[in-house]
Amino acid sequence: MARRPMMAANWKMNKTVREAQDYTAALIPRAADAEGVDVAVFAPFTCAGEVARMAEDSAVIPGVQNFFYEDSGAFTGEVSAPMLLDLGIQAVIVGHSERREIFGESDEMVARKAAKAVSSGLLPVVCVGETKEERDAGNMWEKVSGQVCRVVEELDDSVGGEDIVFAYEPIWAIGTGDTATPEDAQDAIGKIRGLLRELRGEEFAESVRILYGGSIKPENAAEIMAQEDIDGGLVGGASLDVGSFAELIKAAS
Ligand code: PGA
Repeated sequence: MARRPMMAANWKMNKTVREAQDYTAALIPRAADAEGVDVAVFAPFTCAGEVARMAEDSAVIPGVQNFFYEDSGAFTGEVSAPMLLDLGIQAVIVGHSERREIFGESDEMVARKAAKAVSSGLLPVVCVGETKEERDAGNMWEKVSGQVCRVVEELDDSVGGEDIVFAYEPIWAIGTGDTATPEDAQDAIGKIRGLLRELRGEEFAESVRILYGGSIKPENAAEIMAQEDIDGGLVGGASLDVGSFAELIKAAS
């Protein structure tokens, strides 16, 4: 089964509405040209509605970087799946390491968010990855497999591999310029696919997309994307400029 590659821009806490408009206007024709690649933009809440409005009927998949798993209620500061769907949002990052490390999101919360996204019809991009200390201590797989298992446990049996995306993002590679080698990225992502095969079977494992994230840039993208199990990228810094992100889209196609 051929998996469709995905190149995803994670703007993090960047861009005003005006900047988002200019970017989206420039991205839409480039996404249209990117044959066979899903192009997604994960915008801050403040401009996500505008991105979604502009992206309607285009090849750009509008997304946000977080949400909460209840539909409504006394959850000050949070945004729910129905609110996102109302804006035309189609995808959401779940469990980014910055959410886990800075804002204290637990494996349990991440798993509940992933399951809720799927059941709401949002495509979750679920992030997993180890710290430098964990890698150096030989605990990379213990950390990553634990994160993956906790998410999969929460998913209904009916959920298919095409309903969810994983992103392996070693924390030491995020925003540091220090990319994992293509071999290390392939090793981790191949293991994640193997684990998903054990947990959910062959069809799920062959259809689920697993991205790499962590200091992807135009200079290293082609080599990373060429790895057998790597189905695309989740890009922070190098996605902020639309020209640089367009180069990454090309590398994935
Ligand atoms: P980076 O961020 O490309 O700036 O390393 C990736 C991410 O955090 O998703």
